[in-house]
Amino acid sequence: MSIRVAVAGASGYAGGELLRLLAGHPDLEVVTVTGHSSVGRTVREVQPHLLSCGDLVFQDTTPEVLAGHDVVFLALPHGQSGALAAALPDDVLVVDAGADHRLTSEDDWHAFYPGPWHGAWTYGVPELPTAAGRLRADLATTRRIAAPGCNASAVSLALAPAVAAGLVEPRDLVAVLAVGPSGAGRSTRADLSASELLGSAHAYAVGGTHRHTPEILQNLALTTGVRGTISFTPVLVPMARGILATCTARLAPGADEDRIRAAYADAYGGERFVRVLPAGAFPAVEHTIGANTLLIGIAVDAAAERLVVVAALDNLVKGTAGAAIQSANIALGLPEGAGLPIDGTAP
Ligand SMILES: NC(=O)c1ccc[n+]([C@@H]2O[C@H](COP(=O)([O-])OP(=O)(O)OC[C@H]3O[C@@H](n4cnc5c(N)ncnc54)[C@H](OP(=O)(O)O)[C@@H]3O)[C@@H](O)[C@H]2O)c1
Repeated sequence: MSIRVAVAGASGYAGGELLRLLAGHPDLEVVTVTGHSSVGRTVREVQPHLLSCGDLVFQDTTPEVLAGHDVVFLALPHGQSGALAAALPDDVLVVDAGADHRLTSEDDWHAFYPGPWHGAWTYGVPELPTAAGRLRADLATTRRIAAPGCNASAVSLALAPAVAAGLVEPRDLVAVLAVGPSGAGRSTRADLSASELLGSAHAYAVGGTHRHTPEILQNLALTTGVRGTISFTPVLVPMARGILATCTARLAPGADEDRIRAAYADAYGGERFVRVLPAGAFPAVEHTIGANTLLIGIAVDAAAERLVVVAALDNLVKGTAGAAIQSANIALGLPEGAGLPIDGTAP
């Protein structure tokens, strides 16, 4: 018997990607989709690429409509999930792709987001190292999952093994990311329009103001308990989806490439969806498009005394919908990779 699923916000980019991936899932069946301005329209009208669930009709996003499902995925603008989720029964698995339940610190929430803090849920990045092992263990016993921010998962997974092993200075981290505009959702913002984006690139949320900054620092403190600092700058580039994160960190005394590669092999050697490339190889965004895969390339810049980690992922898959499904699989006791592709598309 299939597991009944509702996807709220299924008319958006993250919700649409949940529908696309769930259509290939052997155990989960999407029976309800909800939206906001799309209520009453079919999936075929709003998401024409999603043929397999084209007849489903968007309903209103209310606790009543979302009741009666085994799993509820929320892909709503931040601030919309908290009250809705609180009205759902405790035994329903709820996975929030939004930011409402990611931050464990109420102060961090108020520093970066408007509205009330709704408390933190189990964070949906199974591979992240923690003091006790991996977040995977926490996900196995939860009914509430906060899927990651797309930039935050890329940077956190890129730097976590080095931070956890004490091979870099946690107060000297830098990340500059090339990001595609789908990361901002199906928005009509002028700076996301083709006329302002094609043939150009521009930084945004510069100077420590991006909302994923506290999420990254929270993740990197999971092993050491020490909160570091990071200079984090996203740069909008003309590719529909994808993130290329170039992360650097000052080397700790005694750190060298052999020790660093050993730390990354230890962290991710057994992982299906996080892969470290051989020395001299670095990922391209296109290798991860459509895949629930994060690719990592490592170099040591000895002259600058810095570790350089280049990471690529698809913001809509490993950066949100894929991570949400991977985490739900663990919570449901299903094979972790069920329904999730590992191969990207190229060219
Ligand atoms: N895009 C990414 O790469 C990415 C990555 C990680 C996490 N996320 C998170 O996922 C969530 C959704 O992002 P997105 O990129 O999919 O955004 P989006 O494309 O703008 O979609 C937003 C969805 O929310 C619905 N919605 C809008 N206002 C609403 C309201 N007041 N009440 C209820 N529903 C409302 C929309 O419905 P209608 O279209 O019917 O109006 C649509 O289904 C966000 O919290 C975002 O931070 C996104």
